[in-house]
Amino acid sequence: MSRNYNIAIVPGDGIGKEIVPAGYSVLEAIAKIQKFSIRSETFDWGAGYFLKNGMFLPKDGLDILKKFDAVYFGSVGLPEVDDTLPAKDYTFKVRTNFEQYVNYRPVRTYPGVTRPLRSEKPIDFVIIRENVEGEFVQMGGQYLPDSDAGMGIDTSVFTRKGIERVAHYAFKLAQKRRKKLTHITKSNTLINSLTYWDRIIKEVSLHYPDVTHDQMYIDNCTANFVLRPEVFDVVLTTNLFGDILSDLGGAIMGSLGLGGSGNINPEKDFPSMFEPIHGSAPDIAGKNIANPYGQIWSAALMLEHLGETVAAEKIMTAIDKSTQQGVLTRDLGGNAGTLEVAAAVIKNL
Ligand code: NAI
Ligand code: MG
Repeated sequence: MSRNYNIAIVPGDGIGKEIVPAGYSVLEAIAKIQKFSIRSETFDWGAGYFLKNGMFLPKDGLDILKKFDAVYFGSVGLPEVDDTLPAKDYTFKVRTNFEQYVNYRPVRTYPGVTRPLRSEKPIDFVIIRENVEGEFVQMGGQYLPDSDAGMGIDTSVFTRKGIERVAHYAFKLAQKRRKKLTHITKSNTLINSLTYWDRIIKEVSLHYPDVTHDQMYIDNCTANFVLRPEVFDVVLTTNLFGDILSDLGGAIMGSLGLGGSGNINPEKDFPSMFEPIHGSAPDIAGKNIANPYGQIWSAALMLEHLGETVAAEKIMTAIDKSTQQGVLTRDLGGNAGTLEVAAAVIKNL
């Protein structure tokens, strides 16, 4: 298999412009060590691009991205741009058109990082978020919004095909891990869409008798993320619930800036896209204080997806060494800058 990888880099806005180059420098370093080659092209798409060009990415943007092996992404959004646009015009566009129906969002303990939970028990689970349908299909409308009779409707869409494929992915992942899958629901109140979600997941579970499967309501799940996160292995959730749970996952690790993720097209018909779990954090942008660990972790997830497993493991070990040595950004109570973190990880490689 060829070990030359062609990576599209989309830093996006805000801190993306700082943490993506920091993460990419780690990629370049590990490529040298593991003797594979990466070529990349950087695209200045996002809300900043929208201010100049009236769109988040050019009309042929998806065709351009399609030619790459993977997309290394920061995040999009700026305070001066309508915040209904970044997801609709960039993130969801890529996720849906490239059938990245799995959002892989791991949560774990970082050595040397003080976390907000009292318990010291190690945390190690993966949120698998359905990534292209559910509550985020943006089907709906507003009726006479400026009148007294105004109303707004968003419809959720849950299809058999959509549930089956993400559920199969999650159960297969559980088989490779601690063989436990918890699926998140709220079928006691969303009695049409989420009873269907439960039913299909239960059907799929029959193919994986070696995996212990249970279901948990989203409200109870948020409490358990805080009270006993060590019980989770694979957490299968809908699009909206997964969006919320992954920020909570970041928080229990110690900071939003610690979370890496992959938008995965398991069939590899299209490139997958790797990004931190958080947004463009305009409140701290341009100061070299953003935490790049989640962005660097996303690089490791990308390499794993491309088949460079050893390289991915080496990055994770170097991350752990760096946090253990106290190379921590401000959000973690330290004073290391974004670039210093990247330099420490590279040194530890
Ligand atoms: P956010 O995740 O950007 O920031 C939330 C809080 O966490 C802020 O206080 C921020 O400073 C902090 N934070 C986030 N990442 C950090 C890091 N790496 N290091 C240190 N601190 C960090 O979420 P927010 O403020 O709700 O949204 C800001 C913009 O990002 C909005 O325009 C939103 O639409 C966009 N966004 C984009 C996403 C994407 O492109 N995938 C995902 C989420 C939000
Ligand atoms: Mg989110």
